[in-house]
Amino acid sequence: MSKKILVLPGDGIGPEITAQAVRVLEVCRDTFGLALSWEEGLIGGAGYEATGEPLPEQTLAQAQAADAILLGAVGGPQWDKLPDISKRPERGLLGIRKQLNLFGNLRPAILYPQLAEASSLKPEIVSGLDIMIVRELTGGIYFGQPRGIRELENGEKQGFNTYVYSESEIRRIGRVAFELARKRNKKVCSVDKANVLEVTMLWRDVMEEVAKDYPDVELSHMYVDNAAMQLVRAPKQFDVVVTGNMFGDILSDEAAMLTGSIGMLPSASLDEQAKGMYEPCHGSAPDIAGQNIANPLATILSVAMLLRYSFNEGELAQKIEQAVSDVLDQGLRTADILSAGMTQVGTDAMGTAVVNALKALAP
Ligand code: NAD
Ligand code: IPM
Ligand code: MN
Repeated sequence: MSKKILVLPGDGIGPEITAQAVRVLEVCRDTFGLALSWEEGLIGGAGYEATGEPLPEQTLAQAQAADAILLGAVGGPQWDKLPDISKRPERGLLGIRKQLNLFGNLRPAILYPQLAEASSLKPEIVSGLDIMIVRELTGGIYFGQPRGIRELENGEKQGFNTYVYSESEIRRIGRVAFELARKRNKKVCSVDKANVLEVTMLWRDVMEEVAKDYPDVELSHMYVDNAAMQLVRAPKQFDVVVTGNMFGDILSDEAAMLTGSIGMLPSASLDEQAKGMYEPCHGSAPDIAGQNIANPLATILSVAMLLRYSFNEGELAQKIEQAVSDVLDQGLRTADILSAGMTQVGTDAMGTAVVNALKALAP
């Protein structure tokens, strides 16, 4: 049976980069014979402009009916001052993650050797880098209640959010991390702030408990401030990093830079059944939107993750990753990963190059 993908381009560079990823889907269907179909939906600012909601009901229904979702990015300065914060584009993204129970966010920071020069760290520090950041995505301070902005008796306003995790939420993300580590270098580093925050003291205890079921995997703990430092000091010490929603958001952007650019980092957001949403880790990049200069590779690599995790098509996923590597071998670079002696190309041309490289890998 044909698999159905919902494509949500979103805002800013979202439509430009998803267009290139869809071209890769076309090759998967037409050249590699994968039974695939897709349709587009509205989310974020695009959803708000069309329907008044950043997550229109129809989009949620489409997402529920789909086998997997491919998303570009949401948000932009034109919506940053909306008086009703529930209408902000970012709420659409948070809403779909929560509604579909996509609690397990995988963010692989892998350095393509060809990009060692584009990394902000010295090649010897980053060469061979391959870290899997496992970010809890539907809990923590992003979703805790109560939250809001209230007025105090003295007339001053106070903003507040609640950082909460229940044992079951910690346990299930812990299992995702340990299962992944088992297939990798068998090391999990759990990142917390257990020297200060009770919620992460519990996090640490539950991780210890989960670790008992995985005697073959080594568990270590690190405070988040140290982890931020270690990621730039000696990033190769990490294999799988597991952490909560907000720390994971921050550390994954940091890790992205080790791979050359935020434009290189894909992601998968999975529920218990590996129904997933796939998106680049970066945002809508309003500063470069509409200029055909955004790097589409994170979105294209998200297609590879989609095939691997939701459709069990690991071989084809690997071919897409190979095609990306081949294009880098050809010396083609978007502006964000440009280095001396390389050829600068735009978003479309990068997409075309990957499409051609992928077709060349057909049997
Ligand atoms: P951003 O990731 O959009 O951009 C940060 C910087 O990285 C910018 O200079 C941008 O030009 C650059 N960049 C990002 N993606 C790139 C790519 N593919 N190629 C080349 N350069 C790229 O983060 P921001 O500026 O903090 O946020 C902009 C908007 O995006 C905000 O509205 C924010 O809420 C939203 N956002 C959305 C997502 C998402 O949809 N998953 C993620 C992060 C931020
Ligand atoms: C991400 C983004 C989102 C997050 C925002 C846009 C809600 O930064 O996907 O990393 O914080 O999760
Ligand atoms: Mn982020």
